[in-house]
This record gives sequence, C-alpha cells and structure tokens, in this order.
Amino acid sequence: MSTRNVTVIGLQWGDEGKGKVVDAVARSCRYVVRYCGGANAGHSVNVGGQKYALHLIPSGILNANTRNVIGNGVVFDPPEALHEIDDLLGRGVKIGPENLFISGAAHVVMPWHKLGDKLIEQSLTSGKKIGTTARGIGPCYADKATRSTAIRVCDLLDEAVLKEKVQSICAARNATFAALYAAEPMDAQAIFAEYLAYGRRLAPMVCDAGTMLRAACKAGERICFEGGQGSMLDIDHGTFPFVTSSSVTACGVPGGAGISPKEIGYVVGVVKCYTSRVGTGPFPTEQDNETGQFLRTRGHEFGTTTGRPRRCGWFDAVAVRYAAELSGVDELGMMLLLDGEGQLETLRICTGYKYGGRSITEFDPTLPLERVECVYEDLPAWQEKIADVKRYEDLPAAARRYVERVEQLIGRPIGLLSVGLRREQTILHNSKLDKLG
Ligand code: IMP
Repeated sequence: MSTRNVTVIGLQWGDEGKGKVVDAVARSCRYVVRYCGGANAGHSVNVGGQKYALHLIPSGILNANTRNVIGNGVVFDPPEALHEIDDLLGRGVKIGPENLFISGAAHVVMPWHKLGDKLIEQSLTSGKKIGTTARGIGPCYADKATRSTAIRVCDLLDEAVLKEKVQSICAARNATFAALYAAEPMDAQAIFAEYLAYGRRLAPMVCDAGTMLRAACKAGERICFEGGQGSMLDIDHGTFPFVTSSSVTACGVPGGAGISPKEIGYVVGVVKCYTSRVGTGPFPTEQDNETGQFLRTRGHEFGTTTGRPRRCGWFDAVAVRYAAELSGVDELGMMLLLDGEGQLETLRICTGYKYGGRSITEFDPTLPLERVECVYEDLPAWQEKIADVKRYEDLPAAARRYVERVEQLIGRPIGLLSVGLRREQTILHNSKLDKLG
C-alpha cells in the first residue's frame, strides 16, 4: 500500500471545496491527476489574491513543479480545455508538454454529446430531469460504454481515423436527433476539421498516462488524485438516477488513472460544514427557506460551472459516514466553517432518517430519500469572527464542539479546516498530511 500518495474526494453532492485541499496537498506532490468526470467539475483555487476556476485542468497547475495529468477516466472536451489553457497562459501560468499530460485513452466529448445532453434534458418531464451541467458528460460516457460510437483522444491525432469516425457517428446522430427532437443536422465536415485542429494543438501533451503514473509510483514520486463532483453523485453509489456518469469516489481512482488499487494512498474526504446540492434529486436535509438562503449567501453558493444557485441544507452525517466508509477515508477536511458574525443561533446535524416507521442510521442508495424524515441533533452556533483564526485552539468553543461532534459521528478525524477562501486561511489540526511517507 502506498503511504505517499493522496486521494482527495468529495463526500457530499459536490462543491465541497476540494480544489483548495488539492492545492494544499499538491505543493508536496510531483503529480496531480484527474481520474473522473470532465468539464462539469468546477474547482476554485485562490492564489496570490487571484481566483482561478478550473474545470478540466488539474488543480496542481498553479504549482511550478507539479506535473498535471488528465487520466483515461476523464471525458475530455478539447475546446473547453484549450479555452482554459489560453486563459491560464494569459494570466501568466506556465502550461505546456512539460507540465500537462493528457491520456490518449480518455474519451472525447463531441458536439453531439453536448447537443444530446440538452435535447434529452429538455424532453424529460420536470420530476425526471437530472439537472445536468449540459456539458455532454452522460452522453459521452454512454458512447464509451457503447464502444462503436466512441472517439478517444488518440483518435484526434489520426486524420483518417478521425474523419471516418466523425462522418459515420455524426450521420447516425443527425438521423436520431432529427427523428426524435426535430433537431437541425450538425455539419460533419466542419466538426472533423475543428477537432483535427484541436488534436494538432494538443498532440504534444497527449501521452500514455497510465504507464507514466505506474512508473512514477515505482520511482516513489508522490501523486495526488483529484476527485471531481462528490460521492453522492457517483454513478454506482450515489442517489441514482440523480447522479453524474462516472466513478467519482476513491474506488474510481485505479480504473480512471491506470494505477494499482494499492496506490490510492491516504484518502482525504472533503465536506462542507453544511450541505449543498446543485441540480435536481433528493436532498433530505435541504432547507428551502430562510436558513437555506442564509447558507447560500454566506457560502457564495452559486455554481462555478453553470452559475446556478445551489440548494443548501444541514450537514447530513448519515450520507457522509456512508461516503467515508465507501472510500476508506483516513481524514476529513472541513470547508466553509461558517464565520460566526451575524450567524444563525443553532446548527443542526442529521444523525438518522425515519422511513416507514423505521429508524435508519446506515445510508442505503436505494432508499426513497425524498420521503425520509430527518432526525436532527442541535448544536449551538458561534457568533465570533473566525476568518483570521490560525490555530485550532483559538476557534470558539462552540465551533470546536461542532467539529468534534462531526468527527465522532463520521468516525474520522478532521485534519484540515478552512475558514476562508485564501490559501493561508486553513487550519491544520492533527492532520497526517504533512507526515506522509
Ligand atoms: P452531469 O455530470 O453534467 O451529467 O450532471 C449530473 C448531476 O451532477 C447534476 O445534478 C449536476 O448538477 C451534478 N454535478 C455534476 N458535476 C458537478 C460538480 O462538479 N459539482 C456539483 N454538482 C455536479
């Protein structure tokens, strides 16, 4: 088992603040690797007073010595990646074949995936809509599973292969979309030319990422695996069908990066001190009221990718404990510890559900979550300002009590606490992160 590598994943419904944890971990890592999802992710990192919103590029890109890898498990969107690369280059961030590596085996999000994502969503009735990010994620993974209609990054580098694939797949999609949704046809020739040009520009960064990462493991170089979304959005273990289309937990790392399961290393599970969810689907602790509005305003809860207001609610210890156990989480990072000033008087933690006369303390992804009733424990909130607190001992007693109760309920220590957006607004408390191999 690797004791050097670190996997950082979200334990809720995404947007937990993983980017900040990855940024902290990445400084001691040679590699940062994305292994799931695609441009649906939105990782915010604040460095030197500047905010960077990353979607496809791994969060290690802001560290000069880190190699950033987009693994085979990612669905890669070339125009989106190039837009992000150009934006970062324009802001003085160094990006090139020496620090960005794209797996040739990653699948490519094509225009018909994005169009299909929108058309399918529009055609669903309100209770059935997934509320996707419209980035073509689900349709691209669907083609990966179909195989005969998939295009991989390596195909972008072979003109003849790309031409044949784009022509045949585009023709089939045009026929389906016209028949089902009366959609205008897409221009296969224009798409081929556009994606061939993307391939030419990206070619120096395309590589056999799995072999590179396995060699790095052998050489004892430290790798950080950067999760996307959150465990409750996992295709297998989340609140299906209101999930994303990839394996986002630590269980997805080996398959999505091409490394042995023994190399996952130390697992950090990131949570917010409350819960947010964007898109549709059940959310037992949701507060569709003034409390939810307060949390949304306090936490600036608007999507990094879509700008949509996020739904907000109390911390759900049942869901988080399930997610922590699923991924073998070693330590928690708690983000957005609420600043006390002008705060609520009480914070609630959901410790169980009631359903059909039963008390439930173990999360079951097949439960009709929209019908469970939450059992809450109330804890006093703190009213002091904490944005400048540097040491755990200096947090208000009520904040420490809240943190320690979460540790107890989840059965894992909270090693890292965030009290603000900036890098330096992070409190390390009994964290093992700086003591790894
Ligand atoms: P998709 O991944 O775009 O197909 O969206 C499926 C569901 O996952 C929707 O509810 C999205 O809002 C949600 N989702 C996808 N990516 C993220 C993310 O990075 N943060 C939070 N929610 C996400």
